[in-house]
Amino acid sequence: MWREREDQIDDIVGSAALARSLCSRSSRLAPARLQPKDLRKTSSLRQTPTLCSRSSQRTAGVAIRTLSGVSFILVLRCLRDSPALEAIADIPTSSRAPLDCIDFNMNPSMPPSTAEYGGDEVSAIVLDPGFSTTRAGFAGEDTPKSLIPTYYGKYQAGSEEKYIYGDDIYVTPRPGLSIHNPIGRDGIVEDWDMATKVWEYSFTSRLTGAKPSDPLSNGLNDVQNGELAAEMEGVETEEKPLSDTPLLMTESGWNPTKAREKTIEIAMEQWGTPAFYLARNGVLAAFASGKASALIVDVGASNISVTPVHDGIILKRGVQHSPLGGDYVSSQIRALFKSNSPQPITITPHYLISSKSAVEAGQPPQATYKTFPADKAPDASYRSLIEERTLTEFKECVVQVWPGPGKLSSTGPNGVSNEELSRSTPGRPFEFPDGYNQVFGSDRYRVAESLFDAKAAIPDPDSPFPAPTPAQTIPDLIKNALNAVDVDIRPHLLNNVVVTGAGSLLYGFTDRLNHELVQAFPSPRVKVTAPGNTSERKFGSWIGGSILASLGTFHQMWISKKEYEEHGPNIVEKRCK
Ligand SMILES: Nc1ncnc2c1ncn2[C@@H]1O[C@H](COP(=O)(O)OP(=O)(O)OP(=O)(O)O)[C@@H](O)[C@H]1O
Ligand SMILES: [Mg+2]
Repeated sequence: MWREREDQIDDIVGSAALARSLCSRSSRLAPARLQPKDLRKTSSLRQTPTLCSRSSQRTAGVAIRTLSGVSFILVLRCLRDSPALEAIADIPTSSRAPLDCIDFNMNPSMPPSTAEYGGDEVSAIVLDPGFSTTRAGFAGEDTPKSLIPTYYGKYQAGSEEKYIYGDDIYVTPRPGLSIHNPIGRDGIVEDWDMATKVWEYSFTSRLTGAKPSDPLSNGLNDVQNGELAAEMEGVETEEKPLSDTPLLMTESGWNPTKAREKTIEIAMEQWGTPAFYLARNGVLAAFASGKASALIVDVGASNISVTPVHDGIILKRGVQHSPLGGDYVSSQIRALFKSNSPQPITITPHYLISSKSAVEAGQPPQATYKTFPADKAPDASYRSLIEERTLTEFKECVVQVWPGPGKLSSTGPNGVSNEELSRSTPGRPFEFPDGYNQVFGSDRYRVAESLFDAKAAIPDPDSPFPAPTPAQTIPDLIKNALNAVDVDIRPHLLNNVVVTGAGSLLYGFTDRLNHELVQAFPSPRVKVTAPGNTSERKFGSWIGGSILASLGTFHQMWISKKEYEEHGPNIVEKRCK
């Protein structure tokens, strides 16, 4: 059967396009927005050529059964020979050939009508808000078109308080500019007004365009004596930004009911979306990697989470998370810099440097610095935001996770300690914004070691992160997640461990995870999968949302405006399990 399908697959770029092609035959859906030929033209595809490489990629379909009894085919992109192809075996043989003829067993009870969810001609927007960045883009595309920081800036201009969103926060160090994040360190929204504004900026700035201005005051309808105002009474003057666009949003596996209800309220009432769905980011990351059942290890900025997913459904009891995310790794790097010899390293951001000249490795920097008078200086939070960018570069270029086997502090079978082995690997150079540069030796292994071994944390009394506990480390999170789920599905989950989140891009992370799991669970087969493509790893949950929302058969899952008005915000708890 796969032989037959391969010719067809070769003509189609991207899983979403194939999804549509399969679904359109069974369920009449073929959105006009994204024909395969159009997909080839999109710049996002050109930037990520591996996503459309015909030789390495194949597409597979997996039948997903949801709690509400709806079955649909999830079409998944996967690498050839990946376990996603094996997942096909889960589909009853009678239904397997041909794949696109599987009975969709749609629940005909009450799917929203085409008019209610916006129709097939409209591409949904997928919004994936994280602690460090917010990703938004059109369903069916391979990468989010809009990627903005979730942080926003605030400053005083005269008596007025002004806000800055998106990449503009990095540009000008305005006097008194302070940086804030509407999301708390536990991944739950703390400031709803500002979260709404940041999210709204993420799609209005690059996807939908700004809201049209009020027709009463935009200068096009000026009439004297307020005649028009009288005629327009009762007419909604402000058009809502998503009035024509279905919206699929992602959330963490531990998002509380109140926050979920508030989210649908904002989407329906403030943005006016005709259809809405809220999906767990763990489930979406599983879909993006071609699996309906998987154990998702997501290393984000604020958290590391472990999410068991079975048949496309999150196993809530098993969801574990801890604050040892990418920002914690940044704090460990700062601790390493403080204890650096021969002298501590200070990060001086670009905006404080007017000129610099090259210096030898380890020599003091030769730079002239800018100074701001106290009343013109930005807030300290601005400096730490800019420093965080240097720390991310440092993670990309220098930091390494000890790949195992064993902890960094343990001794190998031949009696040589792993620390000694790490000293024999060549160092990695890094240049700071002020020109100071140094080769980092085995110390570069120490900053991420505490993700696996709590005792290895570099102590720092000034760090906002308390010393980690063993229960917060990744191996313990995984053990706890598995202990909380049915014993029968544990082997299957261990065989389908999926690594996602930008924080997991640290060198050696996947190897170490694999060694830790093989050591902790020797009997069932452990298999760790991590997309090699950087954007697939960074945008795992967004990509899963993009695939899901572009499936024709998914339309029954949307919560339509009418349903929201009938049942209230609590419908999100019933529909989005
Ligand atoms: N190449 C890289 N190697 C290692 N770490 C990286 C790399 N690129 C980004 N990071 C780190 O990944 C973190 C951001 O990850 P991600 O974008 O997955 O988080 P998020 O989804 O915004 O946050 P959260 O999942 O906590 O809500 C940051 O701490 C950043 O420094
Ligand atoms: Mg995340």
